[in-house]
Amino acid sequence: MRISSEQIKIRKGQTPIVVLTAYSAPVARLLDSHVDILLVGDSLGMVIYGMPGTEAVTMEMMIRHGRAVVDATSQALVVIDMPAGSYETSPQQAVLSAKRLIEETGAQAVKLEGGRDRAAQIQAIVQAGIAVMGHVGLLPQRAAEFGGFKTQGKTPEQAEAIVQDALAVQAAGAFSVVIEATVEPVARHVTEQLTIPTIGIGASPACDGQVLVVDDMLGLTDRAPKFVRRYAALATVIEDAVKNYAEEVKSRQFPAA
Ligand code: KIV
Repeated sequence: MRISSEQIKIRKGQTPIVVLTAYSAPVARLLDSHVDILLVGDSLGMVIYGMPGTEAVTMEMMIRHGRAVVDATSQALVVIDMPAGSYETSPQQAVLSAKRLIEETGAQAVKLEGGRDRAAQIQAIVQAGIAVMGHVGLLPQRAAEFGGFKTQGKTPEQAEAIVQDALAVQAAGAFSVVIEATVEPVARHVTEQLTIPTIGIGASPACDGQVLVVDDMLGLTDRAPKFVRRYAALATVIEDAVKNYAEEVKSRQFPAA
């Protein structure tokens, strides 16, 4: 049985919620029994497709990778990101896109970026019967507006805006909310104010759960944000293995007779 969005919601203030991104069947299969939520993030634009950001990620990309993750797993709640351009125009557009993502992938919930300015979209999707995870603080789909990938909430105005955004996401019916790249006091205050769980990424231990981009924590990406802890150095493991293979092919040690 998969974990449900209701089960995540009532984990508020209890054992921290474990979230990782996943984009492919083999990796999702390895993560499934160790995490509560698998997030098919639009970070796949950068991680899988080598794009400079997430702005050009399409519905088709999200659906292909979402389907692969859902089909390979049976335990974790699968949340799929709504790509830029699929929900901003109107609540109606947001509902159509969310329905398509859920129907064509089998995921249990969608995630979209924004606070007060996207509350109408969140409310409409929830009313259509689809669970929504919010995303406040730094919004990668609008990184240019934020002056790049910079820590948010440093001024009192920014901090208050993030609190109001998180409250709006909760009032609209989201079951949880990602807080990205905010200073610790803001993440703590939002977590204390909300009755739904907060999932932090670069937002301090004060949140109800944590999410990381899986390729970052496995050491597969060249550069990772400074808050990432590298739990493995897989790039080195892969390079060593490939070097060995190349040497053995050239010296005819592989294949065996
Ligand atoms: O796309 C993504 O991977 C995300 C996480 C960084 C939260 O939104």
